[in-house]
This record gives sequence, structure tokens and C-alpha cells, in this order.
Amino acid sequence: MLKKEYSKDLSKLNTFGMKVTARYFSEYDSLADLLDLDFEELARPVKHIGGGSNLLFTGDFPGTLLHSAIRFTEVLSESPDEVLVSVGAGVVFDDFCAWAASKGLWGAENLSLIPGEVGASAVQNIGAYGVEVKDIIRTAYCYDTQEEEMVRFEVSDCAYGYRDSFFKHAEGRYIVTHVVFALQKGYSPQLDYGNIRAAMGLGVDAPVPADLTPGQVRDAIIRIRREKLPEPGKVGSAGSFFKNPVVPRSKYEEVCASVPAEVKVPHYEVGELVKIPAGWLIEQCGWKGKRSGNAGVWDKQALVLVNATGQALPEEIVRLENKIIVSVRERFGIELSPEVEHL
Ligand code: EPU
Repeated sequence: MLKKEYSKDLSKLNTFGMKVTARYFSEYDSLADLLDLDFEELARPVKHIGGGSNLLFTGDFPGTLLHSAIRFTEVLSESPDEVLVSVGAGVVFDDFCAWAASKGLWGAENLSLIPGEVGASAVQNIGAYGVEVKDIIRTAYCYDTQEEEMVRFEVSDCAYGYRDSFFKHAEGRYIVTHVVFALQKGYSPQLDYGNIRAAMGLGVDAPVPADLTPGQVRDAIIRIRREKLPEPGKVGSAGSFFKNPVVPRSKYEEVCASVPAEVKVPHYEVGELVKIPAGWLIEQCGWKGKRSGNAGVWDKQALVLVNATGQALPEEIVRLENKIIVSVRERFGIELSPEVEHL
């Protein structure tokens, strides 16, 4: 079925809870309905959205918003080591993680509770706790709106990087319809990021129990996220608002020299470069837990901007964003860039 609506209220379709509208909104729940859409006819600009969990609408959307309700989870094949599973773009990503854990399959558990849908996960290369979705994607199936045909991209064709992919640079040409994931049957927990071990009651060097299940890791990840991040549905946000900047080593050393000697600057080596958590930089600038009108900085994770009262206007979020960028630039000489897409 193809749903079509004019002047669509988007407040429930963006997790920031911006009260904005789209001129035209269309949702399809089958490939046939997507193929039926006449892309030439649609009011421009045309934008495909997922769960609206990584978007900031900066005002009413003047064109067409598309949304996939293609929802299926189908095991394609099973070998002694892995299971290939095809998942529709409109499936809630965490529902897929829960499904994988319930089957005892490894690979998706560290990505538990990331908001959003499967189609967008493959565009955004979502990631958390040392895993990115590209690590489990085998193939992304897309509709090519230019050639009007289905195309498939193997994971190696997708140019995946940190929150980046080939699809992000194709200006909406490809619409992900379903994704094939490869999940592992063999024991393969990834517990070495940050505080996962602590959340599981395991010491840094303690042996990992041999009977650990993906469901137990999933539960630990969910506990960590619930402690740090605003509860979706209660407080509007779009998760991490900024990307973690990757800077030359000399810049990292400058940052270390600019803080008291006892302060340890969290960082991750990325080849020759160094990634510094934006949340740490923002906290150092005094923003953690601060409010600016109806917009705010989450008090447990400074990387997350929130619609603090539920009444924030897009311009209030943008104003806060700009103030933070200026603070971090003035204090550290580092330019933050948003991870959240502005529409
Ligand atoms: N930190 C602070 N203050 C803060 C926040 C963080 O000092 O207010 C420090 C932490 O103490 C830690 C470091 O920064 O040493 C990293 O923090 P954390 O592990 O919370 O991760 P992050 O780098 O801030 C990234 C992703 C998150 C993902 C987490 C966990 C980005 C932009 N964000 O955040 O993804 O959940 O790692 O893997 O890469 C998202 O993309 O929406 C998202 C939530």
C-alpha cells in the first residue's frame, strides 16, 4: 500500500520532536509500491527518511518525504559458521538486534538500542561500543531512482567510513530496500570498548565466561545506554549531535598541554591521527547539563543535545549548536561538525 499525505505533521517522525510539517509525505510497504512512485512527479526536494533519529528539521520541509514500511526478517541461508538474514529497510534496527540475540547469533548485540531503522543504518554506518554496522552487512539492496531498477551493493562497494558511506554522497539516488546481514554462530563477544566489561561485572583482565550469550551482552549494552542517554520517547534528541573530531597528533598534544597535568584526555588512535571525543571537549567548555532556552545539553553525555522542554524550536537547537561550535573552536582550536543531518 502507498500512503500519501499532504501537510504531514512530523512531530512523531523525528526523535528531536520538532513541530514541523512536510508538504508531502509518502510511505510504502512493498517494493511494488516503491516502484510505482513516479520520481519525476514528486515535489522537490525529495528526501527519504528512516526513524528520524538522526535528523534536525530546521523548518517545515518544502518537498516530499519518503518512508519505507518494508518490514520482514528472513533467514536466507545457514552454514556451520554463519547465518545470512535479509531484513527490510523499515524494520526498527533494535528489533533486528533483539531477534539476533534471541536466536543466539553474534554480531549485532553491541549495536543494541541504537534508534533508527535498518535502511538508514546501512546509509549512516551506525556504530557503538567498538562495532559498526558495516562489520555485519554483507549486501545492501537498493532501488536506483535514476535508472529505475534494483541494484545490489556488496559491503566492499559501499565505501564505508566513520558514519559515512557511498550512499550518503549519492544525493538520494539510491533507496535501500533491504539489507543482508551475516551473523555468527560461533562465540564472538566484543567487550573491549570502554565500560562494557565493568557493566558486565568483569574485571579488565578477567576471563570472559565461556557460556556468555549475545543476549547477555545486549542486556549490558542496554544498561549502559539507558544510564547515559536520554530515554527515547521521553526526552527529544537525535543521539550524538556532533562527530568525534579526528585531528593531527600535534593538535592532540596541544589539547593535552592546555589542560591541567592530572586531566587525562580521552582519545583513540586512528592511524597517524587521533580521535578526541566531542563529548569530552564540550564538557570541558562547561556545557554539560546547560540549558539555552528550550534546548539543552544532556547532563550525562555532553555529545547529546536535547529538546529539554519538548517545546524547542529548530532555531533554538541550531543556536545552541553554534554556541558550542564557537566555544570548542575558541578553547581548543578544533572545529566540530554535526553528525545529525540538518534538513
Ligand atoms: N566523555 C566525557 N564527557 C561527556 C561524554 C563523553 O568526558 O559528556 C568521554 C567519556 O568519558 C569517554 C569518551 O568521552 O572517555 C567517549 O565517550 P562515550 O564512550 O560515551 O562515546 P562517544 O565517543 O561520546 C560514540 C558514538 C555514540 C556511541 C558511543 C559508544 C559518535 C559521534 N558517537 O560516542 O553513538 O553510542 O560512542 O560507542 O561516534 C550516536 O551516533 O548517536 C551515538 C550515540
